[in-house]
Amino acid sequence: MRKILVTSALPYANGSIHLGHLVEYIQTDIWVRFQKMQGNITYYICADDTHGTPIMLMAEKEKISPEKLVENMYKEHARDFKDFQINFDNFYSTNSSENKELSEDIYKALVKNNKILEKEIEQFYDSDKDMFLPDRFIKGKCPKCNAEDQYGDSCEVCGSTYNPTDLINPYSVLTGSSPIKKKTKHYFFKLSECSDFLLKWTKSGTLQKEASNKLDEWFKSGLSDWDISRDSPYFGFEIPDAPGKYFYVWLDAPIGYMASFKNFAKKMNLSFDDFWKDEKKSELIHFIGKDILYFHALFWPATLEFSNFRKPTKIFAHGFLTVNGEKMSKSRGTFITARSYLDSIKNTDFLRYYYSSKLNDSMEDIDLNFNDFISKVNSDLVGKLINIPSRTSGFIVKYFKNKLVSKKVFLDKDYSNLLNEIVNLKEEVNSLYEQRLFSKLVKLLMSHVEKLNEFISAKEPWILAKDESQHVDNSELHHICSVCLHAFRAIIIYMSPITPDLSLKISIFFNEQPYELFDDVKSESLMINKYEHLMKRLDLSDIDKMLKDK
Ligand code: MSP
Ligand code: ZN
Repeated sequence: MRKILVTSALPYANGSIHLGHLVEYIQTDIWVRFQKMQGNITYYICADDTHGTPIMLMAEKEKISPEKLVENMYKEHARDFKDFQINFDNFYSTNSSENKELSEDIYKALVKNNKILEKEIEQFYDSDKDMFLPDRFIKGKCPKCNAEDQYGDSCEVCGSTYNPTDLINPYSVLTGSSPIKKKTKHYFFKLSECSDFLLKWTKSGTLQKEASNKLDEWFKSGLSDWDISRDSPYFGFEIPDAPGKYFYVWLDAPIGYMASFKNFAKKMNLSFDDFWKDEKKSELIHFIGKDILYFHALFWPATLEFSNFRKPTKIFAHGFLTVNGEKMSKSRGTFITARSYLDSIKNTDFLRYYYSSKLNDSMEDIDLNFNDFISKVNSDLVGKLINIPSRTSGFIVKYFKNKLVSKKVFLDKDYSNLLNEIVNLKEEVNSLYEQRLFSKLVKLLMSHVEKLNEFISAKEPWILAKDESQHVDNSELHHICSVCLHAFRAIIIYMSPITPDLSLKISIFFNEQPYELFDDVKSESLMINKYEHLMKRLDLSDIDKMLKDK
């Protein structure tokens, strides 16, 4: 049995969870649920990312302390994730005692391993506000790709990171003024000395091909040392033995993965070291968006390597969500929060299914097209999948006292084959989930759903039911409806990671406990309940409501 620690990137505590974020949390959640349904010991860990200038700016705008902001956001995020069935084993915060302690320890280990450099640098300074202007406090043109209006730490267009003083035409976000340059002592992680290690690590099968190609570009332009300190005032952790200097948020953010796990391990009595020291004892998997590859594939493994921790087993990067073919945008009204989806469309399986039908193992962007969303959900889930019990279960209730024919006694070989073909998909289903080929998986399962519907159409149980001699146990009508419901149950079990709400409802329909293992396809349940309408068709007016609900 495998032991797997899985993370999603830690959402910034300066904004609401939106449908773009959910690409990642849904993708990870499905993968984790799949691992659990195979019986692997799997923990899904996350936290809010609470430090740095974005939080400070937001707190200032809302006229509350950063601590209060972070507290409010935590509650909101936790509720959104729960309502979207994102099943974290632990959702914590980077503003925690565990994270402070681990960040200090890791920093001290880096010092000891001679990987920290103290250097006097020139930084932008806002003389009106009397403070240094790191990261988001400053904007200008990206020095690498010339994109306008980029922040001082990294470019949202080309993904590179650089020093704020490299920005072209910089200005202060706080006052709009042109900043002056002022000297200050900073602490650098000597990334330039880590090339050998990183070249080897990034080529060892830990990254997707596209990610590895992206890294080659970065290696080619050379790795620069990484400024890990910020001057006071800064919302974060103070650096040991360096009064007035704080860790840059991207130093303590990934350590937040460890801190959240540490907090969880203590509650659950698990060994921290089994997951963070010894690579042989467990797997460590990070799901991230392509925009934060630099941090996860360069800074993070180097930090771990030179502070004597294990490195990630795999980094799975995904692409960005576009809405109707364009970047999500507040002005176009396509910046949709998790909450406005929940308030209007309500059914979260719909979005989980739709994303699955688009997701694979690549870093390509995925598009949420509203017309496509409506037609896919209505046609596949409502029209085809749910159609199976709605076309067959009524007869079982009406003529056979809710009881199915056991799959062990199907006399007609064709019926057994129809069912076994689905039950025997297990290996293929496993492999597609494992490789994150969700869109292929959905296609495969839907092709069997279609086959079942064709079977029902060909057998016409509603015609058979007109003949009273069919109203006895073990009649053809009884067998036809039973085989369809057994097969439907198996498909639902395979789909549980994608559509957990539906899976729960169907387990109740079959008088069973929630499905927890794919092996449940081997068993059967013979008593069904009356079929209640399970899903309402999605309508364009639901989407309109979501877009208006701002
Ligand atoms: N706080 C950092 C991550 C620190 S991890 C140690 C961060 N936060 S974020 O809130 O901006 O993004 C969280 C995750 O959501 C990232 O992996 C990011 O790529 C992903 N997404 C944010 N917007 C997205 C889309 N529009 N589409 C797909 N994924 C998106 O980055
Ligand atoms: Zn750029």
